[in-house]
This record gives sequence, C-alpha cells and structure tokens, in this order.
Amino acid sequence: MKDAAPQTVYLADYTPFGYGVEDVHLTVRLDPGKTRVQSRIRFAPNPEAQDRDFFLHGEELTLLWAKIDGAAVTPQLSDQGLRCTVPDGPFIWEAEVEIAPESNTALEGLYMSNGMYCTQCEAEGFRKITFYPDRPDVMAVFTVRIEGPHPVLLSNGNPVDSGEGWAEWHDPWPKPAYLFALVAGDLVNHPDRFTTMSGKEVELNIWVRPGDEGKCAFGMQALKASMRWDEEVYGREYDLDIFNVVAVDDFNMGAMENKGLNIFNSAAVLASPETSTDANFERIEAIIAHEYFHNRTGNRITCRDWFQLCLKEGLTVYRDSEFTSDMRSAPVKRIGDVIDLRARQFPEDQGPLSHPVRPESFQEINNFYTATVYEKGAEVIGMLKRLVGDEVYAKALTLYFDRHDGQACTIEDWLKVFEDVTGRDLTQFKRWYSQSGTPHLQVAERFENGTFTLTFKQRTPPTPGQDEKLPQVLPIAVGLLSPSGDEVVPTTLLEMTEAEQSFDFGGLSERPVASVLRGFSAPVVLERAASRQERLFLLAHDTDPFNRWEANRALAQESLIASITGAEAGPDTAWLSALLEVVKNAAQDPAYRALLLGLPSQSELAQALHQRGVTPDPDSIHAAAEAHRQTRAELWQADLPMLARETEVTAPFRPDAEQAGKRALGSSLLAMQSRLDGGAAAQAQFDGADNMTAQLSALTSLITIGAADSALRAFEKQWRHDRLVMDKWFGVQIAYAPPAMAVEMAGLLTEHPAFDMKNPNRFRAVFGALAGNHAGFHRADGAGYDQLADWLIKLDAKNPQTAARMCSAFQTWRRYDADRQARMRAALTRIADTPGLSRDSTEMVTRMLG
Ligand code: BES
Ligand code: ZN
Repeated sequence: MKDAAPQTVYLADYTPFGYGVEDVHLTVRLDPGKTRVQSRIRFAPNPEAQDRDFFLHGEELTLLWAKIDGAAVTPQLSDQGLRCTVPDGPFIWEAEVEIAPESNTALEGLYMSNGMYCTQCEAEGFRKITFYPDRPDVMAVFTVRIEGPHPVLLSNGNPVDSGEGWAEWHDPWPKPAYLFALVAGDLVNHPDRFTTMSGKEVELNIWVRPGDEGKCAFGMQALKASMRWDEEVYGREYDLDIFNVVAVDDFNMGAMENKGLNIFNSAAVLASPETSTDANFERIEAIIAHEYFHNRTGNRITCRDWFQLCLKEGLTVYRDSEFTSDMRSAPVKRIGDVIDLRARQFPEDQGPLSHPVRPESFQEINNFYTATVYEKGAEVIGMLKRLVGDEVYAKALTLYFDRHDGQACTIEDWLKVFEDVTGRDLTQFKRWYSQSGTPHLQVAERFENGTFTLTFKQRTPPTPGQDEKLPQVLPIAVGLLSPSGDEVVPTTLLEMTEAEQSFDFGGLSERPVASVLRGFSAPVVLERAASRQERLFLLAHDTDPFNRWEANRALAQESLIASITGAEAGPDTAWLSALLEVVKNAAQDPAYRALLLGLPSQSELAQALHQRGVTPDPDSIHAAAEAHRQTRAELWQADLPMLARETEVTAPFRPDAEQAGKRALGSSLLAMQSRLDGGAAAQAQFDGADNMTAQLSALTSLITIGAADSALRAFEKQWRHDRLVMDKWFGVQIAYAPPAMAVEMAGLLTEHPAFDMKNPNRFRAVFGALAGNHAGFHRADGAGYDQLADWLIKLDAKNPQTAARMCSAFQTWRRYDADRQARMRAALTRIADTPGLSRDSTEMVTRMLG
C-alpha cells in the first residue's frame, strides 16, 4: 500500500537528474510469487545537472543485493526508493530484486492476467520492477533477457536470440523506462508483414490468448493503414524490424504505446462482426492508430517530465483524429469529438477538477490522464493548425520531428518550432496551456450601410487556483448566408485576441445570417442569442455540416429545456417536422442523419440548466427526455417504416463508415419504432441479428421500453463464454434501466457469478453504467451515491488507479440541489476518510471537496 501522505510535485521545481544512463541490461526470471529482476546499468554524471544526489526510484521491491563497479554496496532504502554514495565518474550499478506479479492487483508494474505476465509502466510503474531513475528525461538503450517456461517471451525492440525457456531482446532506440514492456505467456499470433516507404520489411504480430485468433484481422488492417498513413501524411516510417501488439484482459486503460511492443486492453483490439459493434470497430481502429502514432510523438520524441504529458497525448489524439477523418467521414468524426468534448471535458473544466492542459502541480500523475490533457490538448493543436494553415503546420511538424528526434521535450520546445517556422510570437497562444477553464464567447451582430459587424466578447469563469483570466487567442471560423440561403461569404477565419473585438464584412446588399464557430473552430461555450427562426434556417441551409448539426442541437436543447422548466408543455413540433424533412433526405450520409437524431444527454442538459442559473432536477430531465422521444416517435410514425427500409444492409457485413452509418440510423429509428409497437420490430431484429451492432441496438431498445427479459436471458446464454460481450450485457442493463431500478440492478449484477471487481472492464461495465444513468445515479435518496462510494472504497484497496479515475463521477456535485449536494459531499467525505485510502483517490476526493 502506498503512503497516503500527500506530496505535491511542481512543474516549477524541475531539475535534471544528476546522472545519464548509457545502457541497461535486465534479466527477468519469471515466477508468480518470486520473480527475480537483475539489472546492470551504466551511469555517467550528467554534465547538464548540478545535483549529484544518486536516488533511484523503487516501490514494493525486495532488494537482494547491490553492487557498484563489482563491489557490494548497502544503499539507504525508503518506501520510495534508495540512495547511495557513488563514484565521481562513470560507474556500473548492478542489483537484484524480488517481486510478486501474482499479487499485483493494481495492474501497474509487472502483473499477471489469466496466467500471462505483462507490464504497464506508464507513468511511474517501472519503479515497481527494479530500482531506476524512473523519469521520462532519462533515456537509455535496453537489452532484456527473459527466463520462463512460456512459449512466448516478448520485450521491446528486435529479437536477439532465444532458446528453450529464454529469449533476449534489444531495443536500439534510447527510451524512457515508462516505455519498457515485457510479456510472457501461452499466446498465439496473427502474423502479417509491412514494407515501409523506404523498402524495409517489418514483421507484424498480434498476440492473443488461444481462442481469440479469429478476432485479430481487423486490428491488423488498422495497424497497416496507420503505418501507411503516417508515411503519407507525416512522412514518418516505422523504425524496427518487428512490431508486436498483445491483447490482455486485465488492463487499466485502453492501450499502451511501449516501444515495438504495444499492449492493449483486449476490448481495444479484439473484434469480430458477431461480437463487436460498429462503435467498437471504430474505436479499435482509432486506438491502434493512436498507439502506433506515439512511436513518433511520444517515443522518439518524448516528454521531459509528466507535466508535459499533453505534448505527446494531445498531439497524438489530434493525429488519430486526422486519421479517422481520412479513413471515414470528417464531419461525422468532428461532431462525435465535440459531443465527447462537451460530455467529458467541459464538466471537468467547469468543476472542481479543472486544471490547465499543462498542469502545474500534481500528487499522483495517474490522475492527470484527463479529458483536458487529451481532448482539450488535441483541440489546442487543431487551433494552432487553423491559425497557421495546413502548409505551415506540415513544415512545423517536419522541423519538430527533425529537430527533436531522440529528445525529451517541453511545450516550450513545441511552440518554439511554430515560432521559428512562422516568425510569429506565440506568447498569448501559450495561455491555452496554462489557463484552465472553458472560455465563454458572446456574439452580437449589427447591419448598417451594407456592412455586417460581428462583435465578440470572451470571458472565462474562475477555476480552482485561477481567479483572474486573460484573453485567449480564439480562431473563429465564420461564414455568411444570404436570406435565400446562398453563401455570400465563405468560411473565413477571424483571429480574436482581445477581450472584446469586432469584425466587419462589407459590400453586402442585405442582412446576412451568420454561421459562427464553424467546425467548432475553438473549444468554447458559444453564447449566441440566435432566434429559433435563424436556427431553423441554418439547419436547412448552412454549408458547414458541423454548424448545421449544431443548429439542430441548439433547437433540441431549447425544446427540452422548455419542457423541463415547464415553459412549454410539449416539444417544438415545427422544428420536429423540419428535422424529419432533413432526416428523410436520402442524399445525406446516413451517419450524419443519425447524428441529427441524437439528443443532448441528460447530464448535458443538467449542465445547460446550471449555466442558466436553474438547479437541475434529474427526474424532470429524465421525464422530459422520455416524453420528447415518445412524442417524436408518434409524430413521425407514418414515415418510420419507409425510413427503416432505407437503412437495410443487404451486402455482407463490413465495419466501414458506409455500412456503420446505415446501421446507426437504423438503430435510432428502431428505438423510436419500439415505443410504438411494444418492441415487436426490436425483438425480430434481436432474433435474426447476425452482427453485434444489430443485436445490441435491438436489446437496448427492448430494455428502454421494459420488454427485454427474455432477450437478456437469451443474450447471456449465447455469450456467457465471451468476456467482452458479457461486459456489454452487464453495462446495458444498468445504463438503460429505469432510473428507479438502476441502483438495484447494479447491486444485483455484482452478485452475478461473472462479476469480477478485479477486472477493470467488468467493474467499469457495472459502475460506469450506473454513473452514466443520470437520473438513476442521482436518485433523490442518495442510494446511487452510496453504492458507488461503497464500491470505489473496495476497489481502491486493490486498484487505486481505476478507483481514482471513477471518483470523477462526483465531479459535478455542485450543480445539484442542496439535498443532493449534501449526500454527494457525504459520499465523498466517506471515501476521503477511509483508512489507508490510496494517494490516487485521496487526491481526487480532496480536490472535489475543495
Ligand atoms: N499512453 C496512454 C496509455 C496510458 C494512460 C498509460 C495512462 C498509463 C496511464 C495511451 O497512449 C493512451 O492514451 N491510451 C488511451 C486511448 C487513446 C486512443 C486516447 C486509453 O488508454 O484510453
Ligand atoms: Zn496516448
């Protein structure tokens, strides 16, 4: 158990380590309870450092012996690591430690999953494997020998040699310890090959447990597509003879970019039409790409310290979003990303956990792998690209890759590249990295003598530790439409730098309709008092697909809010008729039409109400959303069958954007149909489904109308041997349960023999779904809060990282009424007061309690 005494690390305190590492030799003798790790490390004083304190990180290690230049030494040990007196010049450190992977339930360091050994070292897990300067600015060449009875023994880099019971690997690229990986087990592989643009042959393998071989083909395709894309778009090719990917069932995150040996949560790589939804396929493609892209943005160029995390994560998320846009539909990807940003990053940035894209302090770095660092971090890259233009961005990236290859860098290094390429001063732009909170952008418009003027005001509400905000650089993409719907000014990028700023568009014969913040060109809350008429106009005529969707989203939100607050009895039927016409337009991409049918989530509505100074009531929000869906289904009743026929896919299953779009639209329509026919169509689709997208959407439609009992039993019977499909079974029952039943359902499912709290996917399936059932989680009697708190306390003792991440379910507690606030505060306080609570969860709950 970690020491819970809070120790804060500050960006401002950075100093380089006193010693560089020339190379590392590790010998790992595997054993479940007594693995031996022998290290031989060549250190030399670092000429760039003043401090000669020789401290090596090490946690939960039993030191057996240590030597310097062959002579035994006795270091001073603490629960964080060791200190030792060392020679003045270069020296060789050797040590042997013992660790117990079988009892490692934190899934950090070396651990076991279904009899296989694997590692997770980011961010600070290597220190649980051996004593080492476990910081990303110490980069070294690793040679690894693994000894164990397993048929497959893998580590980073290229294979050197192997024999019965052993294998040796050498990674020629200097890397930080967080990219170290080792896997051993009885695995089978799905092999392939790739020829790089310079003609080098690379061996590709996806390693899985026997039985999963049939679920690798899609991941392999995605890997090859990613490798080609990074060559074509960024001019970067792969740099080793072999690239291994391993699937593991017990994994805290989605996947990890270890050099030459990516390790994936099996949910993030294994796919087949029968077991995976279209959304799963798309996510797998994106994660494979993301981890592969880290080979350049993260591995070859890494971070100086963990405060610079967005340097690799923001950029790599940006790159994987470009990849998905190229592989699929760019507008659909953009809309999906904005939905996600508003669902996860906005609440974070507007609540007690708000922090800058580059945080300035932390207690536990694992708590900063956040939507802000990742998604807002990617938005910042997108803004930079918009401001400098595509060509200059490409030049800057080439310079970045060339100038910093092999280095551990900072955000300053990154921005300097753009300053050098453009000659621009990016001092103000840098505020995007240091200032937390979501800017609110107000728009006013005026038309006089043929000139249309847009006046913007920006204001960022205070966030923890930052009361005063300075104006940010905002790229605002604007287009103007004539009243007849023609585009009179095509998309133009306005660059706002002041707190208040006006922009003129002259030479217009009549007052135009403005389409502001096209493509969501900056991650802000747009406050624009557009009329309903204007929104309907934009829904019909805007040439920007994002803003057409956005106009509709605003109409949906206004309509729902009007019924929640009682301002209007029913939904806006004029808007619903207009929307139906758009949805019936067969010339439009079905995926895009499916997005138009989406409604703001209940949590998003709560946030919107809160922003208007109205205390959200989860029950009224749920009731209004349900009533809306019912009315919509009834209003559109006559058109549903024809529309549904249009979404039928007759060709063999392909997980591509075209078929997925049809199925997505079909699923939305089926949900509506179920409200009218008692679930007959959904039951038929469930019974005849030959792919998981169809089966699961039918199942959720049935759950929503309370007619899923037999389908749920059949589903369980059919899929009880498949862990990933069973995660869906656990999740949907809770996520779509009527609010009054969600807590009981979650409780009941924890009694199911297949519930296993040590498996993060299964734990998240149950409790992530509970937290996502807005009205269910926020039940007035607080039972949702109590249940989640109970289980987070239990999980924290085994897996602090996953427990701490899930604590963020409480981050919006200040939005709600006094009674709910008191209950959530009590739940958080109970977690905080748990004896032995991890540093991870302690930091999260104390930040939330403020
Ligand atoms: N480097 C991370 C994985 C990671 C995160 C390791 C936190 C240790 C702590 C990896 O590149 C990553 O970002 N994975 C994401 C998926 C990605 C598509 C955004 C994940 O695991 O969710
Ligand atoms: Zn990443």
